[in-house]
Amino acid sequence: MDLDGARTLVAGASGALGGRLADALHERGARVVVGGRRRDSLDALADRFGTQPVLFDAVDGDSCRRAVDEAVDQLGGLDLLVVAVGVAAFGPAAEADAAVVDELFAVNVLGPMSLVRAAAPALEDSDRGRVAVLSAILADLPTNQMGEYSATKAALSAWLGVLRRENRRGFGVLDVRPPHLDTGLETRALAGSPPPLPESWPAGEVVDAVVAALADDTRVLGWDPKLKQLVSRAA
Ligand SMILES: NC(=O)c1ccc[n+]([C@@H]2O[C@H](COP(=O)([O-])OP(=O)(O)OC[C@H]3O[C@@H](n4cnc5c(N)ncnc54)[C@H](OP(=O)(O)O)[C@@H]3O)[C@@H](O)[C@H]2O)c1
Repeated sequence: MDLDGARTLVAGASGALGGRLADALHERGARVVVGGRRRDSLDALADRFGTQPVLFDAVDGDSCRRAVDEAVDQLGGLDLLVVAVGVAAFGPAAEADAAVVDELFAVNVLGPMSLVRAAAPALEDSDRGRVAVLSAILADLPTNQMGEYSATKAALSAWLGVLRRENRRGFGVLDVRPPHLDTGLETRALAGSPPPLPESWPAGEVVDAVVAALADDTRVLGWDPKLKQLVSRAA
């Protein structure tokens, strides 16, 4: 897709990846509205972009819909929705706390689904509609002590695949499945301590790869552990 002038909502822009993606898209000429939970975490970006932030909590589907509607009104339509919302949790699968599992699925799966559903009509109206959603390598490689987090990412990726097939003529869907990154996500986990993790990868490389993947209409950005790089994959 042509990013120049693309009317864009980045949901989760207060986060490490979301913030950097918002910046990179802005640099490519996109008109970017930033979305997240707290206004104070979004104001600096929004000021730089000359737009108003939109607020939502991923556990509240209605607030996701309202935030998308506000962004569409502000931009006069929507060409690109980026979803970089997510949380982790760690621990043995059989011992997971039910409330933590509920929140994990609400933030990592149900919230992103709500955001995409709300954006779908505007994306269909666009002549270059596209969705880019951060899942994770764990969708391909479920990992011990990260059973619920892995399950959320596998569920999200499965849903994105169906969304892509069902909307071929409406809008494109990019599923981004990065490896462990240097954003500190694991330090903000809802519960538990992370198991030994592989060496972290620079988030900046993911941001560059996502921007390139949006430009060339890639469908899945996966991780090749042998090549140690993000690779464009068939869906
Ligand atoms: N870092 C990694 O190693 C890695 C690897 C693969 C995939 N990913 C995925 O990439 C995405 C971004 O991760 P990151 O590394 O940038 O982590 P991050 O810096 O912690 O960003 C997470 C984002 O999610 C938002 N969020 C969390 N709970 C929310 C809620 N209830 N409602 C609305 N927003 C909520 C956070 O908002 P607040 O600022 O308000 O907390 C923040 O904007 C996530 O989906 C993550 O699973 C990360």
